[in-house]
Amino acid sequence: MRRRQVKSETHCSFCGRSASQVDRIITGPSVHICNECVKLCNEVLAEQKKQTPSWENGAIPKPPEIARFLDDYVIGQDRAKKILSVAVYNHYKRIRSRVDMDGVELEKSNVMLIGPTGVGKTELAKTLAKVLQVPFSIADATILTEAGYVGEDVENILVGLLQAAEYDVARAEKGILYLDEVDKIARRSGGAPSMARDVSGEGVQQALLKILEGTVANIPPKGGRKHPEQPMLQLNTRNILFICGGAFEGLDKVISQRVGRRTMGFGAAMGEADEPDAAALMAQVHPEDLLSFGLIPEFVGRVPVIATLDPLSEDDLFRILTEPRHALVQQCQRLFAMDGVEVSFTEEALRRIVALTVRKGTGARGLRSVMEQAMMDVMYEAPSQEGLRELMVTAEMVDKGVDHFDSGDEVARILA
Ligand SMILES: Nc1ncnc2c1ncn2[C@@H]1O[C@H](COP(=O)(O)OP(=O)(O)OP(=O)(O)O)[C@@H](O)[C@H]1O
Ligand SMILES: [Mg+2]
Repeated sequence: MRRRQVKSETHCSFCGRSASQVDRIITGPSVHICNECVKLCNEVLAEQKKQTPSWENGAIPKPPEIARFLDDYVIGQDRAKKILSVAVYNHYKRIRSRVDMDGVELEKSNVMLIGPTGVGKTELAKTLAKVLQVPFSIADATILTEAGYVGEDVENILVGLLQAAEYDVARAEKGILYLDEVDKIARRSGGAPSMARDVSGEGVQQALLKILEGTVANIPPKGGRKHPEQPMLQLNTRNILFICGGAFEGLDKVISQRVGRRTMGFGAAMGEADEPDAAALMAQVHPEDLLSFGLIPEFVGRVPVIATLDPLSEDDLFRILTEPRHALVQQCQRLFAMDGVEVSFTEEALRRIVALTVRKGTGARGLRSVMEQAMMDVMYEAPSQEGLRELMVTAEMVDKGVDHFDSGDEVARILA
């Protein structure tokens, strides 16, 4: 739809086209801009926003700033936060100083996160990507096999990163890739190199070496196996920060052997006292322990920064329910608010949710499912309760919800 010529022809101050050549001209004090130029400007702005995280032009967030940002999302794990903040700060400093004046090649420092399930490994990696505004993706080491065997080629771990960067190769090349379950690709026997070919373990570690260190990888854009006729995207992994994660179950035994201390010494109580001890041992991990666990030296060498995460205490779990930006309690309140219901929890109710979660032994991961179970009946009944404006969740309701998971009657009575 072109506009008819107006009496005195205005021209876009940017492209010079006249009002009759474009759909619309916006006039400011002594300048004019046409709709096409507005569109172009928008694209330029959007592109810039997409391509340049703030640290590329301005300052890279300092380690304490990074750690503080992590505090908003992840509870506890202070040691891991500190180690990660420094590693990430150095990593992005290294990218920025691509051309080394004095010829000192800054080496990449990939990170290993070790800790039990559900204590914040993935969450930490994800949050780091957020603070640095770089693409982030998670890949699972267990689905990988050496090229030529059944399973995914190792290059496929990069596909997700490419997708997270909306196929902008340059952005993907500065992203963070979280490689989960690396403990599962340990050599099964541990220790001595295996004679037979170990398809899922050692071979995969071998195949990952180049990618971790920096190589130009050929990736099938949509993933899947490589076909000769499929077009490939090339991605340089030199500046990608790899964060490896794993539970490394049994590593505490390996460490205790090295430090020559038994997990159960004389007079040490069995059971409860065991666990903090295991965590304390884990915190003393050295690269050589990872070798004994079954990672090959070349792999360990490419992941020089090691951080261990602690098991979460009941107090940590309580704080995780209420404090982080996306805390479950806030999420739940938001959901109910959509129906005009203001939900609150008694402290006892929250403590009960925590206690039920601890029993599951899945760290903070269990909080959500306990919460869902506890709230199921309430969420079922509440939307159809006319005039319900406020709702206080008590410990009793939590118990009922979890125990009689499918009897809605109880809660209906409580609500009435
Ligand atoms: N320290 C923590 N602070 C805040 N939330 C946490 C913390 N630990 C875990 N969570 C929450 O618990 C869930 C699981 O955490 P996460 O995915 O980080 O576990 P993980 O350590 O990677 O475990 P896994 O080894 O099973 O992958 C997430 O929803 C996360 O928000
Ligand atoms: Mg995880």
